[in-house]
Amino acid sequence: MTIALAMLWLAQSPGDVAARTASTALPPERPQAEAVLTAQAPEQEVSEVDGRVESTEAQSPPPRSAFPAAEAERLYLSLCAPCHGARGRGDGPNASLFSPRPRDFTRGVFKLKSTKSGFPPSDEDLFETISRGIPGTGMPAWGGRLSRENIRLLVGYVKRFSDAFDVEGVEPIDEPTEPPVATDERIRRGRALFADASKGACFQCHGESGRGDGPSAPALVDDAGNPLPPRDLTRPWEFKRGSSARDVFVTLSAGMDGAAMPSYEGALNADERWDLALFVQSLGRRRSWFDYLFDDPYLTGARAAGMPDEAH
Ligand code: HEC
Ligand code: HEC
Repeated sequence: MTIALAMLWLAQSPGDVAARTASTALPPERPQAEAVLTAQAPEQEVSEVDGRVESTEAQSPPPRSAFPAAEAERLYLSLCAPCHGARGRGDGPNASLFSPRPRDFTRGVFKLKSTKSGFPPSDEDLFETISRGIPGTGMPAWGGRLSRENIRLLVGYVKRFSDAFDVEGVEPIDEPTEPPVATDERIRRGRALFADASKGACFQCHGESGRGDGPSAPALVDDAGNPLPPRDLTRPWEFKRGSSARDVFVTLSAGMDGAAMPSYEGALNADERWDLALFVQSLGRRRSWFDYLFDDPYLTGARAAGMPDEAH
């Protein structure tokens, strides 16, 4: 897999791909999304410690017409289209190598969000995903390779593929409080919720021991009908959002749209979601050399594929 991928990427240096795809139809003009991007996106910093986005002071928004569509398109076609497709349909030439497949942006459905289930992600959510990548999948981390400005351009470009971003009044999930201390009592309560069929019912998908082998697991698919197994919760390095207690809390609050992972904001109160998050953390084991050798063919493939250092 790794070698095949590397050859594919080498065969399609960004210039090549851009040249081949430049003549294809562009996503329709979506000035509203642009306006949102330019007017609301605060100046963001990627923290050197963990790559997370931290908002700093907002800058005065550039005029609407300032969205450099041609520059955004150049970046998208050379860096993203090989997987996500020139028209954003998740059908780029490399798409079939990956499971889960690269996202079809025209569906407007996203997994990693700080907004309530059913609402589109915020610009910050997309910025963070593009910067950090998605662990355990083909989606690379672009934070070290692209400037923040270029990542912001890509956020704007991705939003143009779907009118899901046109909705007004996007509701964020309840802001997480400081994570509570992981006492035995909390972990015990989390374990009970995990196994309670009328509460979390997590075991139905994730299995009683959290290994992703619950009775419903074999049948789970994503919104495009492709198989999408539940996470093995003993392998925290494969968590797409991250495995800190706060990350898991946000996953439980927002759910993962397009995947079977539900939102629990309505069903469980914040205290219960914290208990579950701390219990999930207690299931995680350390990653061993064995895991490094045999895991993540997708991620390793993308890394080995000679991704450019800085695509200017
Ligand atoms: C090597 C293949 C590959 C490349 C190149 C790639 N992606 Fe992805 N991307 C993926 C895959 C695979 C997924 C789906 C992962 C999943 O569903 O868990 C994905 C998912 C995404 C998502 C969805 C995140 C969510 O919350 O659901 C966004 C946004 C995204 N990619 C943006 C980009 C952008 C922007 C670029 C170019 C800078 C890019 N990707 C380049 C493979 C790729
Ligand atoms: C109906 C099936 C289903 C149920 C019920 C379910 N999950 Fe999930 N869960 C999934 C699937 C599928 C994924 C993987 C989605 C993906 O990889 O895109 C997932 C992913 C996760 C993740 C990983 C998030 C990440 O960052 O990758 C965590 C943590 C998690 N679930 C915890 C729970 C907990 C705790 C419960 C119970 C409160 C629960 N799940 C209930 C199907 C389910």
